[in-house]
Amino acid sequence: MTSIVAEQGPAADPQPTAGSGAKRRARSILALVVNGREREDVVPDGMLLLDYLREVVGLTGTKQGCDGGECGACTVLVDDQPRLSCSTLAVQMQGRRVETVEGLTHGGRMSPLQQAFHESLGAQCGFCTPGMITAAEALLRRNPDPSREEIKEAMGGNLCRCTGYVKIIESVRNAAAARKVRS
Ligand code: FES
Ligand code: FES
Repeated sequence: MTSIVAEQGPAADPQPTAGSGAKRRARSILALVVNGREREDVVPDGMLLLDYLREVVGLTGTKQGCDGGECGACTVLVDDQPRLSCSTLAVQMQGRRVETVEGLTHGGRMSPLQQAFHESLGAQCGFCTPGMITAAEALLRRNPDPSREEIKEAMGGNLCRCTGYVKIIESVRNAAAARKVRS
């Protein structure tokens, strides 16, 4: 897969060494906010945030696309910043605010960004799309009117095998325009 550009994407956390199936005896009580709802769960200290979201919380929108840190499909928002959930331990989210693609809907309907990906053909097979949308959401929150180059830079760590990226960039530009109209 080629990248939208060969630049940085969502932050990876270098600390975890456990794989998705890793099991440790130590467990912790994790208190956090997921998609606006407070939660407390007992989780293994070695559990990845990706596995916590999918297996404990039941939010399967966040995808695993690689062996770790290379594709961006697992991107979620942590306190408004994009983060690779495959490279982050769940226990590191203590007291943090986590958002997944499911949490970006507006009252059960697609957000303007999700709608733009749908209408502008920014998604084909859709596997990369949750990560693309969360990375784009982080960008639009800090920069409501990004240029094509700024979109490429912000989403450089998100890989897509299908679209060739032109439609993805168009989707983000169209979403920015739609958000401007609504604000
Ligand atoms: S699954 Fe996290 S970067 Fe690929
Ligand atoms: S990998 Fe298929 S739409 Fe991106």
